[in-house]
Amino acid sequence: MKKLFTFICVALMVMGSWAQVSYDVIPQPRSVQLNPNGEVYVLSQQAVVTWVSGNEKMASNALLLSEYLQADAQFTVVPQADVKRSAKKGAPVGAAITLCLAPAKGNVAKKGKSAAQKRQSSLSDNPDAYQLTVDQNGVTIIGVTEEGVFRGIQTLRKAIGTQGGAQIELPYVTIQDEPRFSYRGVHFDTARHFFPVDFIKTFIDIMALHGCNQFHWHLTEDQGWRFEVKSMPKLAQKGSVRKQTVLGRNAGIYDGQPYGGYYTQEDCREIVAYAAKRYINVIPEIDLPGHMLGALHVYPELGCTGGPYEVWPTWGVSEDVLCAGNPKTLDFLKRVYDELCEVFPSKLIHIGGDESPRVRWKHCPKCQAKMKELGLKNEAELQTYINKEMDKHLTAKGRTLIGWDETLEGGLSENGIVMSWRGMKGGIEAARQHHRVIMTPTDYCYIDYYQLKDDWAQPHGIGGYVPVSKVYSLEPVPSELTEEEAQYILGPQVNLWTEYVGFPEHAMYMLLPRLDAISEVQWLPKEQKNYETFKQRLGRMEQLYDRLGYKYCHKTE
Ligand code: ACM
Ligand code: ZN
Repeated sequence: MKKLFTFICVALMVMGSWAQVSYDVIPQPRSVQLNPNGEVYVLSQQAVVTWVSGNEKMASNALLLSEYLQADAQFTVVPQADVKRSAKKGAPVGAAITLCLAPAKGNVAKKGKSAAQKRQSSLSDNPDAYQLTVDQNGVTIIGVTEEGVFRGIQTLRKAIGTQGGAQIELPYVTIQDEPRFSYRGVHFDTARHFFPVDFIKTFIDIMALHGCNQFHWHLTEDQGWRFEVKSMPKLAQKGSVRKQTVLGRNAGIYDGQPYGGYYTQEDCREIVAYAAKRYINVIPEIDLPGHMLGALHVYPELGCTGGPYEVWPTWGVSEDVLCAGNPKTLDFLKRVYDELCEVFPSKLIHIGGDESPRVRWKHCPKCQAKMKELGLKNEAELQTYINKEMDKHLTAKGRTLIGWDETLEGGLSENGIVMSWRGMKGGIEAARQHHRVIMTPTDYCYIDYYQLKDDWAQPHGIGGYVPVSKVYSLEPVPSELTEEEAQYILGPQVNLWTEYVGFPEHAMYMLLPRLDAISEVQWLPKEQKNYETFKQRLGRMEQLYDRLGYKYCHKTE
């Protein structure tokens, strides 16, 4: 009896050290074909992950894969270039995981293709497309680009999950995947509250895990200017600091504590490089002409009244904005954007343009004179004049402007991309005018709203109610659009504003698991979405969050 007990214990220990792999991950890959015979490839500790030497991006991919498996599952794989694979009857030696590029379309002669090349040729041209195969030869991730391979790496690590052990049994499978949308964004407001560089990197890691590719970084606000402009050092030094912060929901009581922080250009470059390794583009936003008290505090002459202005200690929308009639305003903005473009290589640059009250302009002699000079009918057209000037400036640098949907009001500049946040209306109108559109409607995508009905049972949100199921239900391409107009929808994004979110743990809680929901909207064709299986798949993601120390909302509504 005692022997039997010992045997069972040992058997359980051995079994426990073998991993449970599941390809039911988030976002769900488009096609997962398991081998019906149930065969598995056994990945051992110290297994080699290989690529063809000379490809630095692939070397970085391999290194990241090894770091992921170590952190997620305490499982060691060893990156090593140019290791040949030899699979002699179920006893593979050499590389266990191979990362490679599909040959460019048309490069492979029809005759004499190897089995691997035949598989590769079924990949689409989407730069994020990948194929992940597990068979007797091991694991192969093929991408059209290194970016596609990186997306496949994320699927592999999520399939392995947290349960490393001595060996990992990977069921034979062929996965084919590519995202539905080319733009898969997440916005983060680091101006209402400042978040340290290390956390921005964690934020980017979380995005990478979910296959997102655009980090929209909101850098300036009424409550603080957080981007270093070297030619105007006071802007960040003084403009980032508010004397105190209001308590509660603008309760009229203040904490009496100075609050500040900004990102040096070196910090920004470090973050851009960190994101680039994870195939995430960083889109900086300097919001203009409103949300500018951080700058007006330092340069009061740029406001219609001449100030003085304080870095705002309260939440809301200030009526004090940049004076559109003062020629110094455009000089100032161009200098700021010149430095911004030096630091951020992104083709897309966000100029904000939201919530900019025009009441000061109505009463400002300089603004009214400018309107007269340009023959403008109203103040909306005055804002368009600024947008167009910025558009010209950015276009000359080879960049493309993004603006919130208010930028449509006076007629959007030709080249501009609209970010539709006040519902889908702005996006529909913009697509009909043949402007490209990013969909981020408040009702589905504002993750500073509460995710549970009982708002007392959770950390603060700004109000509202956007549960995971609501995010999941977003269809970013409105049915009103024709097929041709629908092509202008680049993709969806969630936005995390931080008036009521002051710490990394709280930011993660707001993000997860709503990011899981949006990632599936970003990747899966709408007919393949399935909220019931999504909820089941979420359990495995949560194990990973627990392992990696990511905070999340444990309940889904
Ligand atoms: C916004 O939420 N003000 C774009
Ligand atoms: Zn003015």
